[in-house]
Amino acid sequence: MSLELDAIRSRFPALSLEDGGVPRIYLDNPGGTQVPDSVVEGMAGYLVERNANLGGVFRTSQDSDAMVAEAREAMADFLNAPSANEIVFGQNMTSLTLHVSRSIGRHFEAGDEVILSRMDHDGNVYPWLAMARDFGLEVRWLPFDTETFEFDLEELEKRLSKRTRLVCLGAASNLLGTINDVKSAARMAHEVGAWLYVDAVQAAPHTVMDVQDIDCDFLVCSAYKFFGPHQGILWGKREVLERLEPYRVRPAPSELPDSFESGTQSHEGMAGTAAAVDYFAWIGETLAREHQAAHRAFEGRRRNVRAALDLIFASEQDLSRRLIDGLRQVPGLRVLGITADEGMARRVPTVSFTVEGVAPAFLEESLARRNIFVWSGYYYALEPAIALGIAESGGALRVGPVHYNSEAEIDAFLGALDATVRRSNRA
Ligand SMILES: Cc1ncc(COP(=O)(O)O)c(C=O)c1O
Repeated sequence: MSLELDAIRSRFPALSLEDGGVPRIYLDNPGGTQVPDSVVEGMAGYLVERNANLGGVFRTSQDSDAMVAEAREAMADFLNAPSANEIVFGQNMTSLTLHVSRSIGRHFEAGDEVILSRMDHDGNVYPWLAMARDFGLEVRWLPFDTETFEFDLEELEKRLSKRTRLVCLGAASNLLGTINDVKSAARMAHEVGAWLYVDAVQAAPHTVMDVQDIDCDFLVCSAYKFFGPHQGILWGKREVLERLEPYRVRPAPSELPDSFESGTQSHEGMAGTAAAVDYFAWIGETLAREHQAAHRAFEGRRRNVRAALDLIFASEQDLSRRLIDGLRQVPGLRVLGITADEGMARRVPTVSFTVEGVAPAFLEESLARRNIFVWSGYYYALEPAIALGIAESGGALRVGPVHYNSEAEIDAFLGALDATVRRSNRA
């Protein structure tokens, strides 16, 4: 399933940049993606024409109010939220989670239980460990299988009890690439009366995140991972948010969702986030028409975003397959994630691996010399790195194509990697 790649790539000014005549190959996308022209224009346009604080009667302030309302609508469409008033903006996923965890913790009683995952980024782990410490809660850990790189939801079942109040789970792992069945987790959590907090940071650039379909209670994501600016977004179910006491200063608005937004926000970030959602809608409308029929129940931007992500995910599965097949030819290389051909739909294209006898940081550096951008380490996925035994040994190398990457870029990366590994094996 292929995308019209030229049409896509021409939207991203950064993709045609070169350094000393050498093109850049961006495979660092799980750490942050490049942005389309309209995101740059949306942010610049806001700063030039509408820049002001909120709530005034003058032109720029009123335009800013309208822009914030539109950004909430855009995110509500992106996540299929029932209401734009459930969209909370913040600096990033981690800050939003630390912030709302204060309010969530106050809602529980000492001895209540929280289930955390060994697969998650620390942004969906440590805020809850701190909450558990501060409010006297018990933590139960959900392990993943280090051979299959997936959860067995029976393990979740075993850990749920009538004292479970919260389950925190990533929709996709930023180290393994595994997509998790958050919908089943929500059903299971709700059976014991617990809430589900979903970290969708790594899933949102690749697959549809529908909060009503998942039926989670909270979902967090970051626009800079889905072709937008550095901006965090939290969605919370209205009746759940209404039960929480927001941590806010006294003169700040007391109504949802502003009550959970502390201080003046990044208005330009919100403008850019709305433009990123519209970029998906543009794909849906112009390049993904054949995917629209599956989403007839939705209209306008909601339908277009879903069609776009269906097309993106289908084409990314081909990229994952090509990447993983190539990696498996490299001597001594171990992929830390799903590799089976039929497993490509259970993962995002974020692929981490180790190579026997070659340090991940060395590989990162030698690829950087060829203008190929990848990450080494464990990328704040501390628990998975410990579970896999790589936390103390330099972690892994992570390669993460997204829909704008070409097969030629994957092949160039594979060629450079293979040459580097063979050279260092000879040395
Ligand atoms: C899965 C996952 N969760 C959370 C985060 C943290 O996001 P933020 O940088 O917006 O705090 C990241 C960032 O890499 C991530 O990949």
